[in-house]
Amino acid sequence: MAATRRPHKYFKWAVLGVATYGVAVTVGYQYFQGEKERFWLVTDEDRAKAFALRAPNYDEDIDTEEWFTGIKKKREQLVSQAKGNVLEIAAGTGRNLQFFAWENCDKIVLSDSSEQMLEKAKAKAVELQGTHALQKQLIIA
Ligand SMILES: C[S@@+](CC[C@H](N)C(=O)[O-])C[C@H]1O[C@@H](n2cnc3c(N)ncnc32)[C@H](O)[C@@H]1O
Repeated sequence: MAATRRPHKYFKWAVLGVATYGVAVTVGYQYFQGEKERFWLVTDEDRAKAFALRAPNYDEDIDTEEWFTGIKKKREQLVSQAKGNVLEIAAGTGRNLQFFAWENCDKIVLSDSSEQMLEKAKAKAVELQGTHALQKQLIIA
């Protein structure tokens, strides 16, 4: 019967040591290379660029994921309860527009820092115009 070979009893500690060393060197290198800010923080500029880039395909990219994870259903449940004057901050492409109970809302204001995302929201609002008196109620800025 062949003897089973077992790793040396310190093998896992050696692996852990090498991995820790690798992480420490990587983190230290980035930190001291003047990338401090970039490494620790996503800047406003980075974020704005990311959303500007993602805006054209944003909805297609996350539609399936949101349906699959139940987020779409949650949006519907929550947003349909909004009433009176509604302010949606960081509204993005207006994914919630379809779920508002327009008859219960006096004004709906959608705001976002990304013009590209808001352009998509405006296009959606135009599509919804046939079914709701949107122009009077909705401000997208
Ligand atoms: C992940 S998206 C979510 C969009 C939307 N709330 C939704 O549920 O689909 C995040 C949004 O936040 C916006 N955003 C990020 N930082 C912001 C800021 N400081 N002020 C306003 N909007 C911001 C982005 O432009 C982007 O549209």
